[in-house]
Amino acid sequence: MDHYPHDLGGNFRKAMRRLTSAVSVISTQHDDIRHGITVTSVTSVSMSPPSLLFCVNRTSRFHDPVIRAGRFCVNMLHAHQIDIADAFSGRTPGPDRFLCGEWASDDDEMPYLIPAQANIFCETDAISSYGTHSIVIGKVHHVAVRGQVAPLLYQDGQYTVGLGEGVDWVVPVG
Ligand SMILES: Cc1cc2nc3c(=O)[nH]c(=O)nc-3n(C[C@H](O)[C@H](O)[C@H](O)COP(=O)(O)O)c2cc1C
Repeated sequence: MDHYPHDLGGNFRKAMRRLTSAVSVISTQHDDIRHGITVTSVTSVSMSPPSLLFCVNRTSRFHDPVIRAGRFCVNMLHAHQIDIADAFSGRTPGPDRFLCGEWASDDDEMPYLIPAQANIFCETDAISSYGTHSIVIGKVHHVAVRGQVAPLLYQDGQYTVGLGEGVDWVVPVG
């Protein structure tokens, strides 16, 4: 077993590379400017009330606008949308990120990605600070789901997909 007791950070990083996570772009609008960030930290919290959380680094440009806006949309990316994940993880600066992908705004001027696997519209209900990050809990008030389940995944520092196009996404076991 590779185990270096004096390299806690490195071992933690190595362990987390084995955690496969779905990729989302979180979007919001504040002071008439759209903001977005690529994340893998989205996790459901509860069904009662329907709620989820994501973690955002306080140094990211997305942090202050999403806290101030008090609302956000989780856009779950499709396996084909690596270009959008790249744009919203730093390749493209500021609002120009929204030139990548087909975006619209709902009646509350919340930007959402039209061809996402799902859009989950939330109002911020709680924020917790931990280390370098804020943990933002959102109460879900509206959801749109489309197409088959085919999420973009992130594992071992790179994008991946389930079993690929035209193949079942669910591997039966047992
Ligand atoms: C696959 C992937 C997942 C990421 N997940 C998160 C996350 O959960 N929280 C976070 O704060 N940053 C996350 N990031 C980093 C941000 O996307 C990135 O730092 C941010 O877009 C930089 O934008 P800025 O230059 O406008 O601050 C992730 C990046 C990638 C590529």
